[in-house]
Amino acid sequence: ASLAREQARHARSLEELEAILAGFDGCALKFSAKNLAFADGNPEGRVMLVGEAPGADEDRIGKPFMGRSGQLLDRMLATIGLDRSQVYVANIVPWRPPGNRTPTPQEIAICKPFIARQIELASPEFLLCLGGPAAQNLLGVKDGILRTRGRWFTYRTEDGREIRALPTLHPAYLLRQPLQKRLGWRDFQALRRALDGRE
Ligand code: URA
Repeated sequence: ASLAREQARHARSLEELEAILAGFDGCALKFSAKNLAFADGNPEGRVMLVGEAPGADEDRIGKPFMGRSGQLLDRMLATIGLDRSQVYVANIVPWRPPGNRTPTPQEIAICKPFIARQIELASPEFLLCLGGPAAQNLLGVKDGILRTRGRWFTYRTEDGREIRALPTLHPAYLLRQPLQKRLGWRDFQALRRALDGRE
């Protein structure tokens, strides 16, 4: 993990970071994945969304949130007047875990310096953490996502910038538990208010 840290710190741009990650052999997931799914959307956007890990569609295409979760995510963004061209999208782990299992704590730890540097370089105004693993690993919260969702946290970059961060339910969870969509909807509304300077 310290090698990852060293390499991630080296990246001066998101393009460099992606190239470094593509050549990084320290995470075993790389060797079972088809592609690196580094990012999608607009790194200049005011909002960055971070999910868990690529699934089959993301692995095939090489970008985050390309499958059913991504489609729901786009619909939720649309309800607050945003689309993919206005937000930047990534995952805490950029390679697909076999069979879509949850990445292990070790895999997450190895990849953490890269997502931390990616957030720092993108430097969004707002960070939306999609699901428990993103919220817990980026914000250091122990509580489950149902307790933390909808509450504002502060994400601190290594260079000392503070970014307002909101945990919300993962779209894959909302596909399985459609009645919970109203909670996700509430969180997106809170993000809209923050973007408008009303929260
Ligand atoms: N789920 C995630 O967390 N990320 C993706 O990119 C796709 C599905």
